[in-house]
Amino acid sequence: MAVITIDGTRLEVPENKNVLECALEAGIYIPHLCHHPDLPENGSCRMCIVEVEGQEGVTTSCTLRAQDGMVVHTTSERINKLRTLALELLLAGHPEDCSTCPKYGNCELQTLIQYIGANNARMRTRIKGIKMEEGNPLLIHDMNRCVLCGRCVRACNKLRGVGVLQYNKKDLETYVGTLHGKLLKDEDCRFCTACAEVCPTGSIRDKLQLLTTNLKKEEALVPCRTACPAHTDIP
Ligand code: FES
Repeated sequence: MAVITIDGTRLEVPENKNVLECALEAGIYIPHLCHHPDLPENGSCRMCIVEVEGQEGVTTSCTLRAQDGMVVHTTSERINKLRTLALELLLAGHPEDCSTCPKYGNCELQTLIQYIGANNARMRTRIKGIKMEEGNPLLIHDMNRCVLCGRCVRACNKLRGVGVLQYNKKDLETYVGTLHGKLLKDEDCRFCTACAEVCPTGSIRDKLQLLTTNLKKEEALVPCRTACPAHTDIP
């Protein structure tokens, strides 16, 4: 076991446990987006940055391992500025039509925008213009709403072991596509819908909207398990 301190709260946690999960389990909310409790971390969104006493700069708490004596701060002027900038950069390539998005009210990105108080006003908007893919059974892919958190790719590859979803590139734009660039139904997709289940935005959705409807926490078929403020009692 290790004793760490997060924002003045002393916690006894398993040595090497990821610090983001230590904080969330103790009721200390750290904003996060690419983290999902069922997936390996990839540390891509930079929302969960923290400062560790004795270390230079900031570091992502989802990839930080708890060490005995570690003292962590989850907010400071520098953290708030960098976190806001990271979110603004994500929003620069995201449509602004939240109120008409099927994931409205149940979107982790929307929750972060409200929690952090960011918008893309300082950034030049970058419309991706990727055609929405509706030709598959069960699933809709709208890559314009994708923030490249990689949860769907990790769910498909690491959690389910199917390996259909991957990062592709077109005209210097990275997007989530399929292994051979075909429709999911023409690849080896099992339509397990894990990708839609873990997607934090309206990018990958189930056609019946069972996973994207704004159900109450206790009613949800697949409750959000990421401890974002919209779905927990954590302030
Ligand atoms: Fe840690 Fe995304 S949640 S970098």
